[in-house]
Amino acid sequence: MVLERPVPGPTMEHTLIESYKDRFMNHLSQTVPGRKELVISEARDCTIKTADGRLFLDFISGIAVANVGHSHPEVVAAIQQQVEQFAHVNVYGRFVIPPQVEIAERLARVTPGNLDVAYLTSTGTEATEGALKLARKYTGRKRFLAFEGGFHGRTFGALSVSWRQQYREPFEPLLAEVDFVPFGDLQAVTGAIGDDTAAVIVEPIQGEAGVRIPDDDFLPGLREICTQHGALLIVDEIQGGMGRTGRWFSCELWDVVPDIILSAKSLGGGLPLGAFLSTAEIFSTFLDPPLSHLTTFGGNPVSCSAAVAAFDVIEREGLLGAAETMGTKLEHRLRGLMSQFPELISEVRGRGLWFAVDLPPHLTMPIVNDMESRGVIVGSLLNAEGTVRIAPPLIVAEAELDVLTGVLRASLMAARAGELV
Ligand SMILES: Cc1ncc(COP(=O)(O)O)c(C=O)c1O
Repeated sequence: MVLERPVPGPTMEHTLIESYKDRFMNHLSQTVPGRKELVISEARDCTIKTADGRLFLDFISGIAVANVGHSHPEVVAAIQQQVEQFAHVNVYGRFVIPPQVEIAERLARVTPGNLDVAYLTSTGTEATEGALKLARKYTGRKRFLAFEGGFHGRTFGALSVSWRQQYREPFEPLLAEVDFVPFGDLQAVTGAIGDDTAAVIVEPIQGEAGVRIPDDDFLPGLREICTQHGALLIVDEIQGGMGRTGRWFSCELWDVVPDIILSAKSLGGGLPLGAFLSTAEIFSTFLDPPLSHLTTFGGNPVSCSAAVAAFDVIEREGLLGAAETMGTKLEHRLRGLMSQFPELISEVRGRGLWFAVDLPPHLTMPIVNDMESRGVIVGSLLNAEGTVRIAPPLIVAEAELDVLTGVLRASLMAARAGELV
């Protein structure tokens, strides 16, 4: 259990730690203001260690990246081996790069339907961008349909299909041909979709909106409506995929086969890697004209080697099953806290090892910060004030769930006593 490990000593002199904090403020652009207090020296399994020698449990997995835990030894070995062979060559259009083939083949094995071709990128946002272009090119149509609460990235195309006015407005004009409808509302989809709709883009479970799970008829119904109108269904599994919900892809929870799947975050085992996955037929449209979509770093050999190792760890260590069983245990604990603190926790939602806990909005950040001061990292969400995200690595141990529960309980007690502001 993490708190029983010997407490490590500092790895840096106090003055150097403070100097890093100052130099960070001077030289790194930030979109969240303020001085940062944690200087990271190491991350392993579910634990992050700071340079002053403190240990923290990472219950957001580096934001849904460390599904196999931080620095899994097999991932580290795969990275080392690949770097010694080659780190980078022209990644697209010229050479066969074995680690790309290995990860694309593994993904093809687990994607639903015949989505057995991958275009590899570096990030999730790039996967979204590529998929939007692919849908326009394949259908010859211009419009996109997206959902209120949805999040697909921050570049112009991805931002255009992402919700939340405050993140969009300062950067307008965005793509004009986008309609938003309420998440889960099939009637609204029917009203908004048309024969000029290239694609509908959806997170089967909305992450940044607060782990919102739709009714069971939603995703199958959406599939049907898209098929009727000849629009492609793009499913964003960037946060919810690679085992987070107990399935490789969350759309499997409803047996839905989309036309394009987006993957990233945990795909690279800790290194930057994204992918959009579709059929050979849909992808054939990218050959005309040649070079219609390109990347310098997407599908980087080192990232792909890390991804292959992480994929194999998920399979061999049975982490899809672990997400389900440990998820049930975590849910039980969170619901226990909800009954002890009904005035503070209004709802617990989740699937697999992916949970949202609704709190009074004015207490959310104080509780997140108080938990950090007690050694547990949880997170807030982009599109849901008043909600805390809890999403540990899929290798999390039951004892670590106990630590999370104890720390959250202590923070809730402090909030109840009026000690948090
Ligand atoms: C559902 C979803 N789509 C897309 C993205 C963007 O991915 P990236 O930050 O790798 O560009 C994110 C990131 O949080 C996400 O959660």
